[in-house]
Amino acid sequence: MHRSMRLAALAAIVIASLHAAPAQAATTYEAESATISQGVAESNHAGYSGTGFVNYANVTGSYVEFTLDNATAGPATLTFRYANGTTANRPMAIAVNDTTTTKDFPGTGAWATWQETSLTTTLNAGANTVRATATTSGGGPNLDRLTVSTGSAGGTPVQANGQLRVCGVKLCNEQGKQIQLRGMSSHGLQWYYQCLNTASLDALAGDWKADVLRISMYIQEDGYETNPRLFTDRVHNLIEQATARGMYAIVDWHMLTPGDPNYNLSRARTFFTEIAQRHNGKNNLLYEIANEPNGVSWSTIRNYANQLIPVIRQYDPETPILVGTRAWSSLGVSDGASETEIINNPVSATNIMYTFHFYAASHGTEYLNTLSRAADRIPMFVTEFGTQTASGDGGNNFTRSQQYVDLMAQKKISWVNWNYSDDMRSGAVFTQGTCPNGPFAGTSRLKPAGVWVRDRIRTADDF
Ligand code: GCU
Repeated sequence: MHRSMRLAALAAIVIASLHAAPAQAATTYEAESATISQGVAESNHAGYSGTGFVNYANVTGSYVEFTLDNATAGPATLTFRYANGTTANRPMAIAVNDTTTTKDFPGTGAWATWQETSLTTTLNAGANTVRATATTSGGGPNLDRLTVSTGSAGGTPVQANGQLRVCGVKLCNEQGKQIQLRGMSSHGLQWYYQCLNTASLDALAGDWKADVLRISMYIQEDGYETNPRLFTDRVHNLIEQATARGMYAIVDWHMLTPGDPNYNLSRARTFFTEIAQRHNGKNNLLYEIANEPNGVSWSTIRNYANQLIPVIRQYDPETPILVGTRAWSSLGVSDGASETEIINNPVSATNIMYTFHFYAASHGTEYLNTLSRAADRIPMFVTEFGTQTASGDGGNNFTRSQQYVDLMAQKKISWVNWNYSDDMRSGAVFTQGTCPNGPFAGTSRLKPAGVWVRDRIRTADDF
């Protein structure tokens, strides 16, 4: 169907967002009130906002054009709400004034199932044009609305950086700039979920100024395998909590015992399929598919990654995937191996990174040098480290920890510290009994490792 329609009035609803900090404003523009070329406003699938949605004609070139009225020039996040009841992606060219990027609009499962997908951009003061044009013969998806979020100077980490992607051996933001993320890992969700509440996550985003939360979901040890529904829902919730605060979230498949990731392959397929289907429109996720493989060779780990990654990519073409390495993600060093086995036989996928974990009181120069060498050859992400021994307990070695932190700053290696809980061990940042009531901000309830790492997360970001 070819049909063109112009509506003069734009329905713009200004709402204050729920973000704790910094202050943000969001403006909603309904697609049915925008300029439509080769499409029609309809309302026959439930769940839309406003009075309906736009059904794009199934042709290349059909578009919806929004005219935004923006208060001040600066960074903004554009969030499209859409449904695509087919299983085929319906990519669109998103032109913001004179700059065009392509965005995927994969299937949402049904025409009445609406999802959001975002991109970051820079807007002028005053009028701006955003045109979403179908680039394939399937046309566009059904488009419900566009929400435009603008923040105070700097904004949140996600506002500043948008969708991440691996660029060479580095992590880059949506604008192609090499960046480093710093943040905290949760402890196991089966034990310390009570440390992840509104107040503690507000403190992590606002007081600690963390860029990233790692959501550590164990599989065994009373974790996921005992109740997949409960633990998957906990992960969904924490993804939403991180997103609401403008933080990145690492979905950590925390396999540990047994150490062969293939033991949990079918569970991982089920879990990541649901996560990717639900969240593929978000721009703030990373998927860590094997926490710490151990007792198995690199080729066994690689075989697992080569099987699981295509399952995730079916639903989520964009989210970076983090792959654990041999011997508790030591790049093999704890088994007497090294990064060369990965360089010689990498995982067959793009937009992936390899993980390295270290505990500074146990892992000295050999480990430090391995990380340094590896980071020049393959994309590296430190998804866990502690200032103490490998058990997460015992005395801190802050001198060696600082050498690692300096190296990671110099090479822009993103890092996450273990762990944001009140467990008794020295590596849990809060003193016992802090959860669930806090206080979480400031240093009054922090152990020495917590004071040290909070200082290093709070320092200014390089983006
Ligand atoms: C179906 C659906 C429409 C949708 C169309 C399409 O007809 O009901 O809402 O727009 O498919 O494929 O684009």
